[in-house]
Amino acid sequence: MSVALLDLKRQFEQVEADVRIQIDRVLREQSFILGPIVQEFEAAVAAYAGVKHAVGLASGTDALLLALRALDLQPGDEVITTPFTFFATAGTIHNAGGRAVFADIDPVTMNLDPAAVERAVTPRTRAIVPVHLFGLMAQMAPLRETARRHGVFLLEDSAQSIGARQVVDGAWKATGQLGDATTFSFFPSKNLGGYGDGGMLVTDDDACAARIRRLRTHGGVKMYHHDEVGFNSRLDTLQAAILLAKLPYLDRWSAARRANAAWYDARFARLEDAGILRRPLIPQGNESVYNQYTLRVRDRDPLREHLQAQGIGCAVYYPVPLHLQPCFAYLGYSAGDFPESERAAAEVISIPVYPELAAEERERVARAIEAFYGVEG
Ligand SMILES: Cc1ncc(COP(=O)(O)O)c(C=O)c1O
Repeated sequence: MSVALLDLKRQFEQVEADVRIQIDRVLREQSFILGPIVQEFEAAVAAYAGVKHAVGLASGTDALLLALRALDLQPGDEVITTPFTFFATAGTIHNAGGRAVFADIDPVTMNLDPAAVERAVTPRTRAIVPVHLFGLMAQMAPLRETARRHGVFLLEDSAQSIGARQVVDGAWKATGQLGDATTFSFFPSKNLGGYGDGGMLVTDDDACAARIRRLRTHGGVKMYHHDEVGFNSRLDTLQAAILLAKLPYLDRWSAARRANAAWYDARFARLEDAGILRRPLIPQGNESVYNQYTLRVRDRDPLREHLQAQGIGCAVYYPVPLHLQPCFAYLGYSAGDFPESERAAAEVISIPVYPELAAEERERVARAIEAFYGVEG
């Protein structure tokens, strides 16, 4: 029996009827570009995230790009982010005309280390982009404090973490409520995934929302009148319809992911005690949505080969930290500059955690890992 890292067919069985109803609405209405269904989905996400505005965009990448474009970065302006993230986080800084400045991660959470961010601030810093990696939010209180003190924009890259929560100033806050703006991705493998690309920016700031709406339609809100040069970056109406049907399931799916994670946590305690691996640690005052369940292990590459040979889905997110990517050589970083990110890149492996994963499959994944290290379950 093989075990997939993610099996979207099982999810489709649950949502098929609801999805077909919403797709039929689009077909009946024949309103394909920014129609009422996009607005309905935007309102639903704004309510879900507890924010004032939600703007549907073509992808999570574009959500970052437009947010950064709205800062009107000048040559030499700096944006601080983590090197241990998906490429888009830093690629969009470059494409928005900024200079990516990396700060190392916290070795426990693998999210940006707020102290490293503080040290990376210069007079050219315009924004900080924490990434909520694998479903766990970066430590927002100190990042908000740094951003506020230096007067820079705080942009949450929440592509992997819609629905994640954290206690800040004694109250639970959802991702979206703690940055100046927050971006989501609806890439199919995300916790709320469409059937193609999609993304969104949420914010409480009226001016920011208005600017992003303008940027997504070629820089003008009135047809054929352009205040600035923008993009064609609209959330597709069919995707909005699919996502509208799926949103009511999201919290149940996140809870199921957490249940799978809790099972692995209990099962892998012995391996951690034996110094073989480290489980993902969720600091108190956080609720992860586990877009990935990511272990840090000894002998990562041989383990990956072993799991693949057994038909067990697994993946390495991410094998090369961004400061070592050839395209960013011009930034002048070299190996050893961000040791925690480099260590994480060498040790991480993500295993199946998706909501519909069956108990026997979890068991099989755990057994295969135990067998590799010669430990009885
Ligand atoms: C951390 C992070 N940022 C940005 C993105 C970009 O999102 P998209 O694939 O929707 O463009 C992704 C998703 O792939 C991501 O994981």
